[in-house]
Amino acid sequence: MARLYAIWAAALLASPASASICLFDSEKIQLTADKLEGLSPANAGLFKFGPLAATERKTSSQCKVFPGDKDWPSEDAWASLNKVADNQLLKPRPKAAVCYNGPEYNPAACEQMTANWTNSYIHLDDPIEMFSPVLQGLTCLPPDVYDSKNCTQGGFPVYVINATTTKHVQAGINFARNTGVRLVVKNTGHDFIGKSGGAGSLSIWTHHFKDISYIEQYEDEKTGYAGPAFKCGVGVQAFEIYKVASEKGKVVVGGEGETVGVMGGYLQGGGHSPLSSLYGTGADQVLAFEVVTPDGKFVTANSTHNSDLYWAMRGGGGGTFGVATSVIVKAYPDMTTTASSFSFSTATLSNEVFWAGVRSYYDYFIPNADNGTYSYFVLLPNNPEQGVVTFTMTPFFAPNKTLEQTRELLDPWFTRMNELGIEFDPNLKEYDSFYPAWRDYFPLEAVEKVNVQSGSRLFPRSNFADQASIDETFNNMRQSTETNHVIVAFNMKVISPDNPDNAVNTAWRENILFAIQSVRWSVNATVDEVWEARKGFTYGDMKRWRNISPGAGSYLAEADRLEPDFQQSFFGSKNYPKLWNIKQKYDPDEIFWVATGVGSEKWQVESVDTLPNENGPLCRVGVKTRLSAAAMRAHNTIKYSH
Ligand SMILES: Cc1cc2nc3c(=O)[nH]c(=O)nc-3n(C[C@H](O)[C@H](O)[C@H](O)COP(=O)(O)OP(=O)(O)OC[C@H]3O[C@@H](n4cnc5c(N)ncnc54)[C@H](O)[C@@H]3O)c2cc1C
Ligand SMILES: *[C@@H]1O[C@H](CO)[C@@H](O)[C@H](O)[C@H]1NC(C)=O
Ligand SMILES: *[C@@H]1O[C@H](CO)[C@@H](O)[C@H](O)[C@H]1NC(C)=O
Ligand SMILES: *[C@@H]1O[C@H](CO)[C@@H](O)[C@H](O)[C@H]1NC(C)=O
Ligand SMILES: *[C@@H]1O[C@H](CO)[C@@H](O)[C@H](O)[C@H]1NC(C)=O
Ligand SMILES: *[C@@H]1O[C@H](CO)[C@@H](O)[C@H](O)[C@H]1NC(C)=O
Ligand SMILES: *[C@@H]1O[C@H](CO)[C@@H](O)[C@H](O)[C@H]1NC(C)=O
Ligand SMILES: *[C@@H]1O[C@H](CO)[C@@H](O)[C@H](O)[C@H]1NC(C)=O
Repeated sequence: MARLYAIWAAALLASPASASICLFDSEKIQLTADKLEGLSPANAGLFKFGPLAATERKTSSQCKVFPGDKDWPSEDAWASLNKVADNQLLKPRPKAAVCYNGPEYNPAACEQMTANWTNSYIHLDDPIEMFSPVLQGLTCLPPDVYDSKNCTQGGFPVYVINATTTKHVQAGINFARNTGVRLVVKNTGHDFIGKSGGAGSLSIWTHHFKDISYIEQYEDEKTGYAGPAFKCGVGVQAFEIYKVASEKGKVVVGGEGETVGVMGGYLQGGGHSPLSSLYGTGADQVLAFEVVTPDGKFVTANSTHNSDLYWAMRGGGGGTFGVATSVIVKAYPDMTTTASSFSFSTATLSNEVFWAGVRSYYDYFIPNADNGTYSYFVLLPNNPEQGVVTFTMTPFFAPNKTLEQTRELLDPWFTRMNELGIEFDPNLKEYDSFYPAWRDYFPLEAVEKVNVQSGSRLFPRSNFADQASIDETFNNMRQSTETNHVIVAFNMKVISPDNPDNAVNTAWRENILFAIQSVRWSVNATVDEVWEARKGFTYGDMKRWRNISPGAGSYLAEADRLEPDFQQSFFGSKNYPKLWNIKQKYDPDEIFWVATGVGSEKWQVESVDTLPNENGPLCRVGVKTRLSAAAMRAHNTIKYSH
């Protein structure tokens, strides 16, 4: 017996790790009939697994059940949800409620919160706050940031399950299906277009799925991968996995931003990284997901099980196909890394010299990306009245390169800059490891402003293939800066050496420059003025960018909610129909919906101010709406310049 055990143990140790043998403890706790003991039959019925029978489908209801509706769940029903969710059901108020008249009013707390408002950490650790307040509907901000007049819940969910086990996720999904309440999923709330919010909804908050375990040798015969990997809870953020990986002498592909939820929406939506020019997207790293599907069941999605779901969840966007609880991602050996940061501006340079310096950089986008580097730069028209424009390299990042190799790569560009008379200190530094280089050189980004919207473009290689194409691209971007649009751009190549077959937007594979521009309007702008600014941007400034990159795309996680033909732009014409079919297969009851997500065209948020945000009920498109027809029409008739 002892001998048998020893053989068995040896075999287990030697055998390649597979997803089936390593569920986290948090994942082992699942929703089973015994978990519903003590509930009345009616309340137990709220947790029935899907899909719904044809007779149970609320085909007549044109909107998700909204607070105030007769079908809105009773207090008793919510109490049952809280019970099944182990008292982890929250009814959170916006943080800034302490600044407004009402029971939460607390001037001292308001002052502290206002002082800390732009610190991203205070929002990421909150159950409902979103990085882009515009998409919430601006209904409760610190008055010094934006006067919301009254503090209302707006586009924030009503209830949140602070999920820490599979059971909590299953309870939330089943409850939403059986009651007709809108369901949303929030991890960090980083998404640019409001996909972690939703008025009148129940939210599943995944932030506390924080487990990380190292797998020394993961083998997947189907994909051919054999090597180290990490299994991570979906709440794990960039700063956490980078640190743990570094302690194992490894790196993992994740975002540049330190608080991005890399194991959640980031990798499901694609995900670019300081390591993308070497290893591709975040989605390209995924070996397996554990996921609660819209029917409430808990499944593995990998190359051999639910492989269509596995394909779709690698690039097809978060909040669409189910809720993942963990992910297994590839890991790579740590490497020498060199970085550089500097800036120059028209405060000390003539316009001509400044722009010649920027233009000279464009000549090196292709070789720099092909050499495995990633650069992040900003063109900031910070003072348009005086015409001061600043270029900031923040940073130029060269993984797997020594200082000498990096200097050599940058030398031709820097020589031209010097010839133009542009003086700067390139602040080059070599590290023997990725993690400290990343820590030192990338900025901690702040929460978004209340009067801004971004749009983005994945400019392909052909835009930089010859001088005429580079000139056209450069001039278009210069025009954006000169008309007061902030540009944030990333020069990288996004191809994985393993070339996995997944749903990543095919436009990423051609990408050389991922560029974001933003439009700003007055903080006091009226709804009509905001519409005018936004339409001018989407159909003016962004159209110029689309026109010079026909057939390319945009990045669904850093994008414009009004992106025209988002199916082509965010997913690619080839992938979209396939994604759409997988969505119909796994989510026939339409539990999951995110703005501009796969299958989202069937529903729309009827926002109270008509602006594109989450502050209103989610209703089927093409049926009678809750808003007055006049209000809905208004935004379609507003004239815009350009
Ligand atoms: C400051 C900042 C820096 C950024 N840096 C980068 C970067 O370097 N590279 C890059 O590619 N992107 C970057 N982004 C964009 C980022 O990738 C997206 O915002 C991404 O959606 C973040 O995912 P999240 O899970 O953290 O965010 P959330 O906004 O909470 O979630 C995003 C979407 O994913 C869904 N989702 C989250 N978790 C799950 C889950 N477990 N299962 C199913 N659905 C889920 C949500 O419903 C939502 O639709 C940045 C954004 C900001 C604001
Ligand atoms: C996929 O997951 C299933 C279920 O956990 C497991 O049995 C199988 O071995 C996995 N496939 C691969 C290639 O690891
Ligand atoms: C910011 O918040 C912290 C607590 O998180 C508090 O200690 C600090 O005083 C706040 N800062 C300001 C300037 O109020
Ligand atoms: C909002 O505030 C105004 C006064 O500023 C008040 O008249 C109104 O009733 C409030 N609305 C709501 C919905 O609370
Ligand atoms: C959410 O749950 C975690 C883990 O139990 C806990 O630490 C945290 O305080 C909870 N957050 C809120 C806002 O209740
Ligand atoms: C790397 O950069 C050098 C110098 O710019 C260039 O000549 C070379 O082609 C690049 N390498 C690749 C693989 O593109
Ligand atoms: C890192 O650089 C070494 C040589 O300097 C090279 O052999 C290796 O392939 C590089 N790694 C990657 C991932 O490009
Ligand atoms: C916006 O309104 C505030 C008061 O709500 C006022 O103090 C400020 O001057 C206005 N700003 C502009 C640009 O009109």
